[in-house]
Amino acid sequence: MGSAGVLSSVARRLEGKVALITGGASGIGKATAKLFARYGARVVIADVQDDKGHELCRDLGPNVVSYVHCDVTDESHVREAVDSTMSRHGKLDIMFNNAGIIGSPGMQILETDKANFEKVVGVNLVGCYLGTKQAARVMIPARQGSIVMTASVAGVIGALTPHAYTCSKHAVVGLMRGAAVELGQFGIRVNCVSPYLVATPLASKAFSRDEEKLEEFAEEHAVLKGKTLKAEDVAEAVAYLGSDEAGYVSGLNLPVDGAFTKTNTALGLHLYSDL
Ligand SMILES: NC(=O)c1ccc[n+]([C@@H]2O[C@H](COP(=O)([O-])OP(=O)(O)OC[C@H]3O[C@@H](n4cnc5c(N)ncnc54)[C@H](O)[C@@H]3O)[C@@H](O)[C@H]2O)c1
Repeated sequence: MGSAGVLSSVARRLEGKVALITGGASGIGKATAKLFARYGARVVIADVQDDKGHELCRDLGPNVVSYVHCDVTDESHVREAVDSTMSRHGKLDIMFNNAGIIGSPGMQILETDKANFEKVVGVNLVGCYLGTKQAARVMIPARQGSIVMTASVAGVIGALTPHAYTCSKHAVVGLMRGAAVELGQFGIRVNCVSPYLVATPLASKAFSRDEEKLEEFAEEHAVLKGKTLKAEDVAEAVAYLGSDEAGYVSGLNLPVDGAFTKTNTALGLHLYSDL
């Protein structure tokens, strides 16, 4: 292939693919829907924010991106989202289980309440489980597919986020590992992306800062300097995992964290502070 051919194959790396993205009306999911569309995929967004979902379809073109109302905690909604993707496009290549909430932002266990804990686990973990199950239902007969879940740096280390959120994200990594092994026999790959802080409505709520202040806060505490992590950077990692270029990558929790989880920042960074 010549260099023009290489460039165009990268530019359209998801040509012909069909993707379903939960939580696709905002933040990381929205950036992923836009990038997937640019890379040539047809996308179905599943979310509970109907106005935002429809607006994105209008922006990107209804032939490329469509919207279904879907509460990921309700199995009948998730089943319907998968079925409507199948009837509209005839297949499902990429399932991106991305919908998430932070819940009540309180960090201390004595402040927490059980209903909130269950709600967060319901969206972040049970939502991923239902998305994986319903996607597998149609991917197994097709003997192919890529399932990606949004975990987090909070799925690797503790005390960054409220307990319910931290637990839900650790569990998503466990779900991914088990599903990757089980579904491998059918040619289905299963992976996670684990982002560091990205300025989205969810993170603004978690850290009680508007999106601009949140980016300053994120940069201050980041290991990798000189770049601000954006939702589009996470979307690129999801596109890689969904693409044929990641054809033998399964069972991976891919950090998009600039090495944040590779050290104890309180100590590790100080050892290099004179450089
Ligand atoms: N922003 C960050 O710093 C960060 C870091 C690591 C991981 N994440 C994860 O990224 C994912 C996307 O979050 P975001 O930061 O883009 O936030 P966001 O608030 O911009 O997007 C989350 C989307 O999920 C949708 N959603 C919430 N509950 C739902 C439900 N029951 N059913 C269907 N959709 C539902 C929301 O309507 C929203 O559109 C989440 O899983 C989050 O935990 C975010």
